[in-house]
Amino acid sequence: MTTEAIRPQNTPGASDGTSAPYRYFPAAALKQNLAAHSEEQLKLFLESWEDLPVDSYMKDGADYRRRRYGSFHWAAGELVADPAGVFHQTKEVNSLHGGVDRAFPPLSDSVLESGVLDSLIHFFMARLPGEFDPATSGVGVHQIRITATHDADGLPAPEGIHEDGHHFVAQALMRRIDVDGGESQIFDRNRRPIYHTTLLEAFESIVIDDRRVFHGVSAIRPVTGVRQGIRDMLLIDYFPLQDRHADA
Ligand SMILES: [Fe+2]
Repeated sequence: MTTEAIRPQNTPGASDGTSAPYRYFPAAALKQNLAAHSEEQLKLFLESWEDLPVDSYMKDGADYRRRRYGSFHWAAGELVADPAGVFHQTKEVNSLHGGVDRAFPPLSDSVLESGVLDSLIHFFMARLPGEFDPATSGVGVHQIRITATHDADGLPAPEGIHEDGHHFVAQALMRRIDVDGGESQIFDRNRRPIYHTTLLEAFESIVIDDRRVFHGVSAIRPVTGVRQGIRDMLLIDYFPLQDRHADA
């Protein structure tokens, strides 16, 4: 992996000559990129979402969100896992859960060492909707499960329309079972809707330039006749390390 700055590829949907602030990838695009990994490796990676602790930082003690978090940096062109640490967003970026260090449970060893995760981080890094210099940047990886019951909707984005405070964020669906809703929505900086899609298939993804757009996800509900619905997501943050140090 080179550490030279990566320039954006042409992005469909741009009408004014500038690249669109987001990109959509069908599941087939990621699966093709993951073809070197065995079915067993992919299965193990997806199964790791079955082992996520409840997010203890949710307001009001809500237990519909489970998650793990880990971060990485590049050293001599290689992706290196950071020691388990805290995740921090400012209150300005996340008025609901920001302003405090959140020590999420770390990624499991099998996920940290997974070639599948490594491939996914590199897949998106080469296709970000904007310039990105890995030599000075870090990567955050969130495994998140949202469950919904008929008593309580699951809110993938309880803060509503928001930004994450990173440069780029990849949002890849890993699993969607018995779920209605969960529409991914992108807004311009004036909070006008510019794109929406509902990720339905494992590995279907969008990537946003978090500095140029806001985003949100509508509530999920279980489909009729079942007790619970599940939506598993992999979020990969790409951010300059100096931001992280200034923030922490
Ligand atoms: Fe977000």
